[in-house]
Amino acid sequence: MNTPFLFGKTVSTDLFTNRTEEKKRLKDNFINKINTILISPRRWGKSSLVKKVAEDVRSRTTKVVMLDMMSVRNEEEFYSILTTETIKATSNKLEEWISLSKQFLKHITPKISLGTDPAEDFSIIFEWKDLNKNYKELLNLPEKIAIEKKISIIICIDEFQNLESFKDPALFQKRLRAEWQHHQHVTYCLYGSKQHMMMELFEKQSMPFYKFGDVMYLPKIKRADWIKFIETQFASTNKNISAELANSIAEKAQDHSYYVQQLSHLVWLHTDRRVAAENILKATIEITEQNALLYTRDTEDLSSPQLNFLKAVASGVHTNLSSKAIMQEYDLGTSANVLKIKKALIKKELIDETSGNVYFLDPIYLLWFRINILRQKLQ
Ligand SMILES: Nc1ncnc2c1ncn2[C@@H]1O[C@H](COP(=O)(O)OP(=O)(O)O)[C@@H](O)[C@H]1O
Ligand SMILES: [Mg+2]
Repeated sequence: MNTPFLFGKTVSTDLFTNRTEEKKRLKDNFINKINTILISPRRWGKSSLVKKVAEDVRSRTTKVVMLDMMSVRNEEEFYSILTTETIKATSNKLEEWISLSKQFLKHITPKISLGTDPAEDFSIIFEWKDLNKNYKELLNLPEKIAIEKKISIIICIDEFQNLESFKDPALFQKRLRAEWQHHQHVTYCLYGSKQHMMMELFEKQSMPFYKFGDVMYLPKIKRADWIKFIETQFASTNKNISAELANSIAEKAQDHSYYVQQLSHLVWLHTDRRVAAENILKATIEITEQNALLYTRDTEDLSSPQLNFLKAVASGVHTNLSSKAIMQEYDLGTSANVLKIKKALIKKELIDETSGNVYFLDPIYLLWFRINILRQKLQ
């Protein structure tokens, strides 16, 4: 029998659980043409949420374009995939796009490279020479197509903060903002996992994208929803789990979407009929071991004050990490030092801080750390 859990791929079908409020907010934004910025740590469920809502709103008159900046290395490539994907999402035939492009692109001559199935697969490349002068034509192409075809277009761009790796990110942002703010028929949904970079891009007054749209911080899925989900998924495959043990899975994974699914999957594999506490313990040790290589490397890369700081965080008993007693116990130096350590660890994406609360970003790293560094016994 196949596992009723899924991880490592975006979920949008029956494996997608809850998110009722977030779905509604995003959908309302799409319908009302309000730009959205969606921020959360990686693997909490941004891509899945956007995909799900995109499927809901897609229609004859609403087209959704999905881009991922992860694989885009420079401005030139960005224009190329923006144009290619917009065309693919809005016209059925290559010929149609060729005639549209003749109508709208006055200064740029595209080169089209055809795939094995030319009706489906093609990409459009431009000469950089032309682009630097005439990039506006491409940025405005979606808006022009939308008007011409009497449709609205939603452009979703994943891992948007990746534009920071372009040659001149500030100029690029200014270019985008200057054109996009005039668009009436195109709505943008920009999302990314590097929280601090995303916040910098969208919440800092001096930045071009300041006040570009509705900034949504995606929360974790609630514990009660996970418990229901885990129970239902086990039941659907004729296995059984108590609410208490379902809670224990979500708790170990700290309600982190990816890890709740992965840990549930491992527990499911170890279970014949009815889940016992020891199945969960076994699965939890397994999941830490699967990641051990990565965690060992991350840990070896730490300076000793950084390691000590993580020990203080992982011990979980201290609330004020820059109190004198803690700084002494963990040999952290001065409070200025503590700030520096914290900043470095946030930059490494090992920890984060919200309203004064410092925590491990990866709940499985925390478990691994407790077992292997603090020598705690898992229960
Ligand atoms: N609404 C959801 N219901 C159930 N599982 C989810 C949900 N959203 C995300 N997940 C789980 O988390 C994993 C990571 O989700 P993803 O959307 O790729 O996160 P992100 O884009 O934030 O990195 C998915 O593969 C899936 O296992
Ligand atoms: Mg994603």
